[in-house]
Amino acid sequence: MAYLKSLRINWEQVEDKNTYPFNVPALAKCQTLDFNQNVTFFIGENGSGKSTLLEAIAYQCGFGVGGGDRNYDIGLSDESLSLASILTLAWMPKINKGFFLRAETFFDFAQFLDERAKDPFSGGGMVYNTFGGKSLNEQSHGEAFLSLFTNRFGGKSIFLLDEPEAALSPQRQLAFLRIMHDLEKEGAQFIIATHSPILMAYPGARIYEFDEDGINPIDYETTDHYRLTKSFLSNPERYFRELFD
Ligand SMILES: Nc1ncnc2c1ncn2[C@@H]1O[C@H](COP(=O)(O)OP(=O)(O)OP(=O)(O)O)[C@@H](O)[C@H]1O
Ligand SMILES: [Mg+2]
Repeated sequence: MAYLKSLRINWEQVEDKNTYPFNVPALAKCQTLDFNQNVTFFIGENGSGKSTLLEAIAYQCGFGVGGGDRNYDIGLSDESLSLASILTLAWMPKINKGFFLRAETFFDFAQFLDERAKDPFSGGGMVYNTFGGKSLNEQSHGEAFLSLFTNRFGGKSIFLLDEPEAALSPQRQLAFLRIMHDLEKEGAQFIIATHSPILMAYPGARIYEFDEDGINPIDYETTDHYRLTKSFLSNPERYFRELFD
């Protein structure tokens, strides 16, 4: 049911492969990437290139690279543009509805809605109707985040999310899995960069790991996130003995 089926990076168009973002190892080894499932996770070490690729996809989808939808764009970096310019997305069918969200720009987005609500030409307080009826800034970060998903968007949409767990307690991450499940049933596709062992457990999802070998599928229970978290929680003292020695 995924709409965005695959992407291709057109390396022949790149003049200097030694500059960012083309020199990020995982990206440099990637020619094509398939999105066969409704839910895809990007995982990998800090700095492995997840956000860089997600932003380029967001740009190609027509979403603001600062985070937001088509009506909301806080500007985009030249770097994300340069990767986007050599990226081809394959759709079946092409859809326009959706959202790109960076956890760290979420408050900017809430601010933007407040501004819109003050503007009589944008329908005043009407702007909040689709976001749970009150300003996102009057709700806690996590509440606001969840209301964004429960009150907006149903049907055929694509959500690109960069570390949504940053806004969410473990309990709320479970609530978010439920929301994802509901939206998936209504026809949503998700591509999510995450470090959360809870989120990436989503049943039936494809997990892509970014590392020096490129971008490759990995099973949930093989990920460092799963193994390390499980092993740490079952015996933290063992880790501390080694870490603090
Ligand atoms: N504007 C920039 N100029 C040069 N290098 C950059 C720039 N932005 C990011 N990088 C580098 O590109 C690499 C990939 O960064 P990216 O933000 O995509 O990683 P990430 O996988 O999202 O990491 P994290 O999990 O910490 O969010 C990193 O090595 C980073 O230092
Ligand atoms: Mg990132």
